[in-house]
Amino acid sequence: QTGYFTYDSGFAATAACTSDITFIDGQEGVLLYRGYPIEQLAENSNFMEVSYLLLNGELPTSQEYDDFTSLITRHTMVHEKIRSFMKGFQYDAHPMAMMMSVVGSFAAFYHNDTDVNNPKDRHLAAIRLIAKMPTVAAAVYKNYIGQPIMYPNNSLNFTERLLHMMYGVPAEPYEVNPVAAKALDLLFILHADHEQNASTSTVRLVGSTGANPYASIAGGIASLWGPAHGGANEAVLNMLDEIGDVSQIDKFIAKAKDKDDPFRLMGFGHRVYKNFDPRATIIRKATHDVLDALGIDDPRLELAMKLEDIALKDPYFVERKLYPNVDFYSGIIYKALNIPVQMFTVMFALARTVGWTAQWLEQHETADTRIGRPRQVYRGAKKRDFVARHKR
Ligand code: SDX
Repeated sequence: QTGYFTYDSGFAATAACTSDITFIDGQEGVLLYRGYPIEQLAENSNFMEVSYLLLNGELPTSQEYDDFTSLITRHTMVHEKIRSFMKGFQYDAHPMAMMMSVVGSFAAFYHNDTDVNNPKDRHLAAIRLIAKMPTVAAAVYKNYIGQPIMYPNNSLNFTERLLHMMYGVPAEPYEVNPVAAKALDLLFILHADHEQNASTSTVRLVGSTGANPYASIAGGIASLWGPAHGGANEAVLNMLDEIGDVSQIDKFIAKAKDKDDPFRLMGFGHRVYKNFDPRATIIRKATHDVLDALGIDDPRLELAMKLEDIALKDPYFVERKLYPNVDFYSGIIYKALNIPVQMFTVMFALARTVGWTAQWLEQHETADTRIGRPRQVYRGAKKRDFVARHKR
C-alpha cells in the first residue's frame, strides 16, 4: 500500500519497506519470525538457532548450526584498543551511552571490510556485531561497577559467555548458573526482532544511504534507548519501585489517565498490538518459573500482576486497547539475575542486534536499496512574497 503527501490531501499510511523476516498481526496478537510462531520458538529453540533463522530465512541443519555458532564464537573478542577507548568514559556514564559509542567506534576499528556492496563484507559485519555485543555489554557493565573487563571464554555458549564476562573476576573461577543462562536465552529470543519498530526503522534508514553497517546499528541503539521504546523496561522497574505497593496502584492509574500528566503506564500499550503482546504473556510465565527456580520472592511480580489486573478492567485502557507489552515483566527477570536497571536496555539492544543486522542485510540484498526519504504533511504558511518587517 503506498501513500502520498500533499499540501491539502493529508496522508495515507505508507509502508516503510517490504520484508520477509517478521510478521505481526496487532489485532490478533500474533508474532512470527520467518513464519514460525514466537510461542513455538520460545518453547523449542534457542537464541543462536533463532539468530540463524532470522539471518538466513530457514532453521539450520546440525552442520549449519555448528558452523554458525563456531563462526560467532570466533568473533567474540573486540579490538584491544576498544578497551582503552572505554577507559575514557566516566564510571557512572549510562551503559546505553557507552554501548552506543563503542558500537559506533567499530566503524573506526573494523573499517577495512565494510564495503556494503560486497556480500562477504556485509555478512562479516553482521557476524562481528552479533558476536561482539555480549563482550561490549559485559565491558560496559564492568566499567559501570569499576571492575576489570573480562575476556570472552569461548568454551561457553552464547549466554553463559555473557554471564561469565559480567559476573566473573580474574581472581577466581565463576560457575554460570544454568537457570540464569536459560532465562537470558529465552529473553533474547523474544527481543530478537519485531518488524519495523522505531530502532529497526532507524537502522534501515541509516543503512539506506549506504552508510557503514556499524554506524547503522549505532543509530538503532540510540533510538532504542528512549523510554517510549526499549528504555521502557528500565522505566517499568523504576515505576514499580515508585508505586511501592498495591495500595498506591489506583493513584498511578489515575495519573496515567490524566491528559495533563505526562506519566504513562510504562510497559503498557503498543503502536501495533491492540491485543496482548504475545511476548508479554510468555515473559509473565517465565518470570514465575525463574523466580521459583532461583528461590527468589520479588514483591514487584505480585505488584505488576495486580497493576495489570486493575488496568485491564479499567475502561480507559480497555477502550484504547492498551495491554502489557514486552517490557512490562522483563525487568523483573533481569533483576532476579542481579542485572542493574541501567543495564536492562543494553540487554534489549544485545538481542535486537540480530534483528537489526538481519533487516540491514535484507535491505542490501533486495531491491530495497533506494534511499529512505520519509515525507510529511505540511501545515505551514502558503507561498507568499518577501516584505521586510524591520527598517534596515
Ligand atoms: C517497545 O514498535 C515496536 O514494535 C516496539 C517494541 C519492539 O519490540 O521493538 O515492541 C518494543 O518499544 C514496546 C513499547 C515500550 N514502551 C512503553 O511501554 C512506554 C509506554 N507506552 C506508551 O508510551 C505507548 O503505548 C507507546 C509509545 C508504546 C505507543 O504509543 P502510541 O502509539 O502513541 O499509543 P497509542 O496511539 O496506542 O495511544 C492511544 C491512546 C492515547 O490516548 P488518547 O490520545 O487516545 O486519549 O492511549 C494512550 C495515548 O495517550 N496511551 C496510554 C499509554 N499508551 C497509550 N495512556 C497511558 N499509559 C500508556 N502506557
